[in-house]
Amino acid sequence: MDRGELLTFPASFEWGVASSAYQIEGAVDEGGRGPSIWDTFCHSPGKTARGETGDVAADHYHRWEEDIRLLSQLGVHVYRFSVGWPRVQPTGRGKVNEQGLDFYDRLVDALVARNIVPCLTLYHWDLPQALQDAGGWPSRDTARYFADYAAIVAGRLGDRVTHWITHNEPWVAAFAGHFTGEHAPGIQDPMAAFQTAHHLLLSHGLASEALRATCRRKPSIGLALNLNPVHPETDSEADREAAQRFDGVLNRWFLDPLFRGTYPEDMVELLQAVLTPAAEGDMKVISTPIDWLGINYYSRTVARRDPDFPLIEAVETHPAGREYSQMWEIYPEGMYEILTRVWKDYQPPYLIVTENGIPVADEPDFDGQVRDPRRIDYLRQHLAQVHRAIADGVDVRGYYHWSPTDNFEWAHGYGKRFGLIYIDWATQQRTVKESGWWFRRVIEANGVEL
Ligand code: GCO
Repeated sequence: MDRGELLTFPASFEWGVASSAYQIEGAVDEGGRGPSIWDTFCHSPGKTARGETGDVAADHYHRWEEDIRLLSQLGVHVYRFSVGWPRVQPTGRGKVNEQGLDFYDRLVDALVARNIVPCLTLYHWDLPQALQDAGGWPSRDTARYFADYAAIVAGRLGDRVTHWITHNEPWVAAFAGHFTGEHAPGIQDPMAAFQTAHHLLLSHGLASEALRATCRRKPSIGLALNLNPVHPETDSEADREAAQRFDGVLNRWFLDPLFRGTYPEDMVELLQAVLTPAAEGDMKVISTPIDWLGINYYSRTVARRDPDFPLIEAVETHPAGREYSQMWEIYPEGMYEILTRVWKDYQPPYLIVTENGIPVADEPDFDGQVRDPRRIDYLRQHLAQVHRAIADGVDVRGYYHWSPTDNFEWAHGYGKRFGLIYIDWATQQRTVKESGWWFRRVIEANGVEL
């Protein structure tokens, strides 16, 4: 690859951007919405940076029309957003809040009117608090309620939405939410974490059935996994085995059930003490064929053996001499590595990069413009790796950038900016960053200039 060379993508390649309900909508008490576990978590002392919450976020609930106008200025083909379960069913089961559905109905109409394909994520971590109170994801019933909710959304929007994502990053929801407790609901219980992982997977299968039975237009169903290549810190056998175990929990624990209908054997043996046996028939439901797989890729994981870390005796390390962002190592080759590995090991029908992006401490310059060359550089390098995977025969059909606007970055609060569009949190004023205009040129050219 030479400098200045244009890497062209396949003609039907989908360029998109991705967001999620709790991170942008705000208006947590409006329109009949019920509380979610993230409302509770953010309002508990000490859980998020500076005690920040998603109460207002990017105020998208009120500014959605402006936001969609901006998307069409960027020229994106696809907008991936999530529906907030507590807007649709304030208590997670039973009664439907029509006002909540109306909001997404208008959003979908506005997207379609501007020729932007809606890609709808059903669950981006905002479990209705009432379901948490009834046991949350460690309880099997939650999987059933999720399928009911999927059918409700499909019944209203399935005549226009064809791109569906059941779950976003079940690993994060299970382990950050129930093992380390860094995310809502803030539980620290390995057994609950693995039950959650299982019920999220099960509910993915059940919701897929519900979508297929309910959508008026044939749905194309995937889910978005956060996958990192895991590399050993050194070449020692101890570190190589540690990396293998880390990979077993982070990647294979989700890929194997979905594509092979089994949990990885080496890990099952290792984790026995904290696993609840799967009920008869569950693995069949979980491995119901999907139409495509979404991969969220940001970084790799470097692991080393640490006998003090429970169960997997492996921890993440951050090697010296590498480049880091505010959150992770910058490792573009990992994009190629994960796409080619999943393609080869699991043969998904096709792949979409459902998230990729970088937090940068963006600030307006003296003239009000927001120049973010670091983000442009990150995107260019990662897109070059997507291109390389496609050139090597991996069927990648789209790339969705995380995220259109700056938003609420979970426990990190508002300090981490991922947007192509800057938001001044005091005024909610939006300014397209240099990277946003750059992304628009990429879409127009259907290619990246190196
Ligand atoms: C996800 C996310 C997003 C984050 C993004 C940056 O889908 O994974 O966690 O909600 O904002 O990944 O961390």
